[in-house]
Amino acid sequence: MEGANFTTMLLLAFEGIDGSGKGTQAKLLARWLRERGYEVFLTREPTGGAIGRVLRRGLSTSCFLPRTEALLFAADRSEHLREIMEHLHEGRIVVTERYFYSSLAYQSAAGLELEWLRSINSFAPEADLVIYLDVDPEVALERITSPGSLRGVTREREHFERREFLERVREAYLELAREYDNFEVVPAEGSIEEVQTAVRRRVSARLAAFERERKTGEQRALEDFLARR
Ligand SMILES: Nc1ncnc2c1ncn2[C@@H]1O[C@H](COP(=O)(O)OP(=O)(O)OP(=O)(O)O)[C@@H](O)[C@H]1O
Ligand SMILES: [Mg+2]
Repeated sequence: MEGANFTTMLLLAFEGIDGSGKGTQAKLLARWLRERGYEVFLTREPTGGAIGRVLRRGLSTSCFLPRTEALLFAADRSEHLREIMEHLHEGRIVVTERYFYSSLAYQSAAGLELEWLRSINSFAPEADLVIYLDVDPEVALERITSPGSLRGVTREREHFERREFLERVREAYLELAREYDNFEVVPAEGSIEEVQTAVRRRVSARLAAFERERKTGEQRALEDFLARR
């Protein structure tokens, strides 16, 4: 069936605040999908590409204005999407750690207008499923801050500021979850295994629909092919 285009695509995005377990869960999910015979492209944002590298450097030195940062995230995503689309067209399942929903949640929590953020990201197609890992910022911060890395009052204050910001990001994510049908809120304060079980349950439901669509697509392509002979 050469030239027949029956590719059914599946783009899965992990979202959540820093330290919610996105990387951990994405990796485990990719392994599970591969064991079940799927080809998987596992990726993340910001990317390791030219713009992603500028962005990471900027994030660590806080040298960009929030608006500039938002534009750089979108620019990095534009490059990322070329790669993502290639893999999707080749029939792979794409699993990405963060996608444009991160821009909406973080950048709106940083004070930018949600509608502007949506408009500069409007080139990015919706994910088929967004797995939002929901954790209390205190739990997430405990996972990622090594004790003794910062001391005394400074550490307390920075921790507090970071926590306040992540509270706002969490609120923004929960608001997005109410708005977007493709969001699945997964409570993520349990063990890695417990969270992975919940993630797989959500993904299995989507996979069943994916398989059905793929079958119908193949059937249609076959019919088109036969009709053309
Ligand atoms: N359910 C869990 N329980 C306890 N620790 C966890 C759990 N999930 C992840 N961790 C640990 O927490 C840390 C952060 O996890 P991970 O890097 O997966 O989070 P992330 O959401 O990708 O973070 P970031 O936004 O910084 O990329 C890691 O050290 C990881 O091993
Ligand atoms: Mg990560």
